[in-house]
Amino acid sequence: MRILHVVGARPNFMKAAPVMAALKRCEQVQQTLVHTGQHYDSNMSDVFFEQLGMPLPDVNLEVGSGTHAQQTAEIISRFEPVISGSAPDWLLVYGDVNSTVAAALVCSKLGVSVGHVEAGLRSHDRQMPEEINRLITDQLSDLLFTPSADADQNLSREGVPAAKIRRVGNVMIDTLVRLLPHCDAHRPPGLPPRYAAVTLHRPSNVDDPGSLRALLEALNELSDEIPMVFPVHPRTRQRMEQLNLAISPRVLLLDPLPYLGFLALQKDAVLVITDSGGVQEETTFLGVPCLTLRENTERPITVELGTNLVIGRDLDRLRREVRKILSGTTRKPQSIPLWDGHAAERIAEVLLGFA
Ligand code: UD1
Repeated sequence: MRILHVVGARPNFMKAAPVMAALKRCEQVQQTLVHTGQHYDSNMSDVFFEQLGMPLPDVNLEVGSGTHAQQTAEIISRFEPVISGSAPDWLLVYGDVNSTVAAALVCSKLGVSVGHVEAGLRSHDRQMPEEINRLITDQLSDLLFTPSADADQNLSREGVPAAKIRRVGNVMIDTLVRLLPHCDAHRPPGLPPRYAAVTLHRPSNVDDPGSLRALLEALNELSDEIPMVFPVHPRTRQRMEQLNLAISPRVLLLDPLPYLGFLALQKDAVLVITDSGGVQEETTFLGVPCLTLRENTERPITVELGTNLVIGRDLDRLRREVRKILSGTTRKPQSIPLWDGHAAERIAEVLLGFA
């Protein structure tokens, strides 16, 4: 059985790593890894392969950055010959980035079965490029591996037959469980004893100069109460440079961190402020309070059972919620079914059933 994995952007790597490791234990499986090159900076890509213990990609399409149409089109046209030449039995794609939807589209037209890992998540907000990617990828997929019951329900509502849906749990938590014991040695140097960790990269927060300015001013102000540690995504870094705003010395700006350094940063934070998808899940698993600066989430289970609070872009609410957490008001998370470190093994088992 030949399985081809496609990854492209930072959040794909920690999802593919455990699935590749689980399938490596199956003798009858041959695996190929294609990196689209959507993320290409060493600290957004190479360092993840190293720390996650992933094999180096067999093929790198080196598509780089561009508008959504350019990036997606480049992936499609460079990926098609790879598939025509290798004819895998299954394509596995991960998450909701442009690489995910582009690869699924190519394979579904060439008659290669598609498995989508982290299927069924919905923010119900089509202004998010990722929501479009999720909807299309799920419609094209033959097997939909979901992390939680809400995802199954979303898919059923969209007419996906139950036979295609397999609730396996959360593969990103597999990686977290495996690497948590090793992260302390990778703690970024110079962290304050107590701090809030910050990540921001969504177009909705960083592309509009007015919104980004207001957000950074709120962080500057809150840093008087708790120092902030902020590893800055390249997209955000560019926008911040254009703004030319003074950042308080109590907001420590870092380059994007490798996986283990960021895990250590989250684990020891008093709270996390983010607009990321994966960070909402990781903080829930770690029991760290998370304030999500978005109008919605495709991961509602982190709010229902976890530590996540979706606060929109209401910066007064951000100030209030930070102060509440600092005063000791935090919620105790419940554990989420199947977020147990074994999701990838369940995916391997399902796939072997098709061998
Ligand atoms: C992508 C994903 C997003 C995910 C995020 C994680 C899509 C639609 N979005 O967003 O879901 O949460 O990755 O990081 O696929 N850049 C660099 N170096 C890099 C990569 C990007 O400098 O290695 C800069 C480029 O200027 C680029 C910009 O960041 O234009 C945005 O990169 P892009 O891949 O388009 O989207 P992300 O914002 O990273």
